[in-house]
Amino acid sequence: MIDIQNITKTFQPGRGKPVEAVKNATFTVEPGEVFGLLGPNGAGKTTLLRILGTLISPTSGHCTVNGRDTQEHPDAIRKDIGFLSGNTKLYGRLTGREVLRYFGQLHSMCKEDIATRTREITAMLDMDEFMDRRCDTLSTGQTQKVNIARVILHNPKVLILDEPTLGLDIMTSRSIVEFIQQAKTEGHSIIFSTHYMTEAELLCDRVGLIYKGEVMAIGTQAELRERTGQATLHDTFLSLVDERDGVAL
Ligand SMILES: Nc1ncnc2c1ncn2[C@@H]1O[C@H](COP(=O)(O)OP(=O)(O)OP(=O)(O)O)[C@@H](O)[C@H]1O
Ligand SMILES: [Mg+2]
Repeated sequence: MIDIQNITKTFQPGRGKPVEAVKNATFTVEPGEVFGLLGPNGAGKTTLLRILGTLISPTSGHCTVNGRDTQEHPDAIRKDIGFLSGNTKLYGRLTGREVLRYFGQLHSMCKEDIATRTREITAMLDMDEFMDRRCDTLSTGQTQKVNIARVILHNPKVLILDEPTLGLDIMTSRSIVEFIQQAKTEGHSIIFSTHYMTEAELLCDRVGLIYKGEVMAIGTQAELRERTGQATLHDTFLSLVDERDGVAL
């Protein structure tokens, strides 16, 4: 469903040195699979997800979603994906319900479908209380829920979620985790980044550890635990980073 082949992204910031944000990343995500992208701050997770979400072009390499190349068919791919970015802003003057209506129209959904999906998602993410409030009055978690609702409104087959539970309380995080589990059972492919290891442990079929732009380990949690001899994903992660940095273990 998602095929990432030799993706490299080098940023050239003004006069500064080029930044190799992603180096030669190659992996796939299958239908019904949840893939977790883990890595320290600045590792390249957001960059890779933005390439996959057709927001930026890679310097080299190819990504396909449902067999279509992200650079050749960005518009078609945008219909198939739901992309949650860390810094999307909502229109402050609109209510959550109005935001969903607006995005539904952008996706050419009919009125009835927009209303039905809005009802379903509102119930699933427990959003009833604030759906008719202006977005500029919402709390962090409420804003994130509206953002997620916007991303899944058109029921995309592929979900690309950059730190979906960042800043959320544990009940709200749980509803996002449950939503991802549900989407998986419906055959969606999900790739998400997180710094929360327990969440990755709960959700991921496979994880990719990205460090300084390099995808340095990919596998099931059991495979990576076996490789490092560690009992938890947290310790596996640290052990792989230390291994790469040449720290004596
Ligand atoms: N537009 C840009 N111009 C220059 N450098 C950039 C740009 N976007 C990202 N970078 C750099 O690319 C590297 C990877 O950044 P990225 O945002 O992908 O990391 P991340 O893994 O998502 O980190 P975090 O966990 O902090 O969100 C960083 O060194 C960052 O400073
Ligand atoms: Mg990021």
